This record gives sequence, C-alpha cells and structure tokens, in this order.
Amino acid sequence: MSVLVTGGAGYIGSHVVRLLQERGDQVVVVDDLSTGERDRIGEASLAVIDLARDDSVEKLAAAMGEHGVQSVIHIAAKKQVGESVKRPAWYYHQNVGGTANLLQAMEQAGVSKMMFSSSAATYGMPDVPEGTLLDEDVTPSPINPYGESKLACEWMIRAAGTAYGLRSVNLRYFNVAGAGWPDLGDPGVFNLIPIALQALTSGRQPSVFGNDYPTPDGTCIRDYVHVLDLADAHLAALDYLDRDDQPYDVFNVGTGHGASVTKVLDQIAGSTSLEVTPTVAERRPGDPATLVADVSRIESTLGWKATNDLAAIVDSAWRAWQH
Ligand SMILES: NC(=O)c1ccc[n+]([C@@H]2O[C@H](COP(=O)([O-])OP(=O)(O)OC[C@H]3O[C@@H](n4cnc5c(N)ncnc54)[C@H](O)[C@@H]3O)[C@@H](O)[C@H]2O)c1
Repeated sequence: MSVLVTGGAGYIGSHVVRLLQERGDQVVVVDDLSTGERDRIGEASLAVIDLARDDSVEKLAAAMGEHGVQSVIHIAAKKQVGESVKRPAWYYHQNVGGTANLLQAMEQAGVSKMMFSSSAATYGMPDVPEGTLLDEDVTPSPINPYGESKLACEWMIRAAGTAYGLRSVNLRYFNVAGAGWPDLGDPGVFNLIPIALQALTSGRQPSVFGNDYPTPDGTCIRDYVHVLDLADAHLAALDYLDRDDQPYDVFNVGTGHGASVTKVLDQIAGSTSLEVTPTVAERRPGDPATLVADVSRIESTLGWKATNDLAAIVDSAWRAWQH
C-alpha cells in the first residue's frame, strides 16, 4: 500500500513510518521540518511542505498523484498547549487550516481514506464524576486553543465524510511516551517524562504541580501509552478503513490504567538509578485530577491493545535519552 504520512519526521510520526516500512508499505512523508528531523524517516520519500500555506494544496495533490497514494495518516500539527493560549489564531491556522488544505488536496487527488491524530485534549475538563474512565461518547469540552483546534479538525473530517464519502478514523491519543527505538526518542521536552529526565540529568529536581488532588497520593493521574503501541494502533486503524462496516470514527488510544505523577517519578528513579526528590509547586490551571481512557471500543473493534507497561515506557525513554 502507498501511504502518505504528514508529520512523519516528528516523534510519533517517525514510529508510524518505521512500522509501515517494516510491514512493506510504501511511505511518503510530508513535513515542514519545523520540529521534525529528516534523519528520523530512513529511506521514505520526503516532501518538505508547510500544510498551512495556501500553495500546499497543489503540492500535496501532486505528491499524492506521483506516489499513487491510497491512504493518508495526518499526524502533523503544532501541539504546545501554552503556546496555543498565547497564539490562538496561529494555532487554528496551522492545525485547522493545514487540515483543510490536506482535505482539499485529497479530494483533488481522489484519495478517500484518512487517519487523523487527535488528542485527549479534546475532552478538556470533562463533566464526569472523578475517576470515571473517559469513553468516546463523553461530550468534548476542550479548554485551550490546541484542544479546540483538534476537535475542529475532527468535525471537518467528519463533514467531509458526509459530503463526499471520505472514510476516516480519529485516534484520540492520551499521554504518549517512551521510544520504540533508541534513535527515535521524544526530542521535545513538553511532557512529564522528558521534563523530569532533562531536570535530573542537569542536576536539578523535577517539580510536581499540586499534591492535594483527590487521588490516592494527591498527584494528578494520567494514562501513559507507549509510542510503539500507539504507532501500532495506526496500522490497525488503516486496516479498519478498508472494512465495509465502520461503525465508529473516533477511538481513544491509551491503556485504561492511570499512573500518578508520583508513581511516574518513582519509576524514573527505578529506571535511571538517579535520586528523585521532587519539589512541590502550585497546581496549574486546567489540570484535571484524573484523565484515563476507556479503551474498550478500540480493543473490541480494532482488536488493538497496548502491551507495554509504565516500566517499559520509562526504560525505553531513558535508553533513548542517553542515545
Ligand atoms: N506527544 C503527545 O503526547 C501527543 C498527545 C496527543 C496528541 N498528539 C498529536 O500527535 C501529533 C504528533 O505529535 P508529536 O508528539 O509527534 O509532535 P512533533 O512535534 O514531534 O511532530 C509533529 C510533526 O509535524 C510537523 N509539522 C508541524 N506543523 C506542520 C505543518 N504546518 N506542515 C507540515 N508539517 C508540520 C513537524 O515538523 C513534526 O515533524 C500531533 O498532531 C499532536 O497534536 C501528541
């Protein structure tokens, strides 16, 4: 199969590209290399295109035609919540505008299957009792422009299905971490594990934002999914797009189990043998106490299940950090 992967040179995209290559698919990467790196995609073809520019539609359609593309995995996006709060119009332009251009190019080129990287950020501060596993039918209520831009993309993609039969799947990733290969570690330092590893290897201690949440140890609980498991979910989603019966267009991707900040830091201490004595800081606004996925839909419909636990995630992140 010939698959176009946007954002394939990034952290998650490069894992998807490598798995597709391993199973023998032909891969074309579209990336503007704003945060991605060329040396993460091996022998895959690379088209350096900024999806958000007006002239990208023609370029994308041409790349799809040239490579006989049958499916698109749309991973490229800007993903920093804080930045999105400061630059909302730019985030909408990049994420929503870029997705609109990609959809137009697909329509022009006659490509009718799409997988989209969405996020648990679409749920925001969900209106459910504390500790409830979040299923896909919870009403999304994003609380920042990043989460809003992801939800707007989901809606736009769904509307394209109604309008002209686009077949699509939105994967809502929970907290992605770890590395499938030591050379594909997360180069951004925006999430708990890389932030803690950076602090500890620079002789500093990580901060814990709030230890008075209504959770067993008082720190926030999140659902950490290994990036290699996540990449594997993309392959399962691609196969699902080929099925005639497609009852759902949204799937959570997580493990169904939460780990508190304290538990993750304990695991980091265990995996690295570094001394971890975090400092406690104020709660950050907009951090729900618990965000854990209900993964029954993806398990029963796609037959996909995460196989790596927190220890495997942190061990692999640490190996990649030292690479
Ligand atoms: N990392 C996480 O925990 C997480 C969680 C939920 C959702 N996501 C989503 O997963 C996707 C990938 O995240 P990541 O962690 O790999 O980030 P990343 O920054 O490593 O990868 C993004 C890739 O997209 C490219 N890109 C960005 N804007 C582009 C544009 N306008 N045109 C072309 N290419 C562009 C970048 O160069 C990069 O290669 C994003 O859509 C993000 O919203 C990530």
